[in-house]
Amino acid sequence: MSAPTTVVAQSGAATVDRATPEDFLRVLDLGRDGLHAVLDAAADVKARPEVWRGRHAGGTVVCLFDKPSTRTRVSTAVAAHRLGLLPVLVSREDSQLSRGETIEDTGRVLSAYADAIVIRTHAHETLSRLAGAASVPVVNALSDDHHPCQALADALTLREHFGRLAGLRVAYVGDAYSNICHSLIEVAVMTGMRLTIAAPAAYHPDPAVLAGARAAGGEGTVTVVEDPAEALRDAHAVYPEIWVPMDKEHLRAEREADLRRYRVGDAEMALAGPDAVLLHCLPAYRGREVSAQVLDGPRSVVWQQAANRLPTAQAVLHLLLAGSYT
Ligand code: CP
Repeated sequence: MSAPTTVVAQSGAATVDRATPEDFLRVLDLGRDGLHAVLDAAADVKARPEVWRGRHAGGTVVCLFDKPSTRTRVSTAVAAHRLGLLPVLVSREDSQLSRGETIEDTGRVLSAYADAIVIRTHAHETLSRLAGAASVPVVNALSDDHHPCQALADALTLREHFGRLAGLRVAYVGDAYSNICHSLIEVAVMTGMRLTIAAPAAYHPDPAVLAGARAAGGEGTVTVVEDPAEALRDAHAVYPEIWVPMDKEHLRAEREADLRRYRVGDAEMALAGPDAVLLHCLPAYRGREVSAQVLDGPRSVVWQQAANRLPTAQAVLHLLLAGSYT
């Protein structure tokens, strides 16, 4: 599925027209109103879980994972279960993808069995090809370029903690040519955050992602610097990135040398505002990109952030299956 459709969605007492995406491959797919509406839905899932139970009873969602995952795999499966959907977990090795069946053929066939396909894979293009061939919605559970499901949990966590997103100063520290950073950029621009990214020159975000986010409009700003102190100063939230992500283990020595300066401990949190919180997508590597004291300390909202993967997953699955934000 690819082209968006316009439906009438109810938001509180007001009825508004909103375009609902047919797939969720990146944050921009939601649009600004849609992004806030999904966060509202996720908050409602937390506040009134019984209202959301079994909303899609009898349906099925296939979760196709090419790469390791703890949070995304389990939160998606549990979210599906709570909505009344049967989650079917498939790994590449267990499927005919491992023997050369194309992603397009796989998408066509899975569309006959399932109401949605959630996929974690490598190249973002694979997602686009799957979405083009499938006749059911496709959700990006992480690609090389985007991790929109994580970004929704990041935003919900900040909104819960600060009561707003607009105007929040977020310092992102480390490799910014990453799916986490790219999705955070899109959230920031669309919600009015002030995102400052500190990264070595060779690790700056994809210029196409920056341009796309800025072109989409929004009050937020994204500034890219090299000095971590510049990003950290007076930040409301600090978000260190893992030095060696999946697929990059062969570059460990080079990346650790390049990114050693991009770490968050007590000294870095001291540069941020006195009420600054720590975000982390997890898994975390204590003593590398983040200290144990900060990760496990009182300023960490990381466990709340991880828990928020579940209601945001419910909100996304509901949005795509219902074609509605409510
Ligand atoms: N943050 C995240 O996506 O975690 P997993 O890789 O465990 O799914």
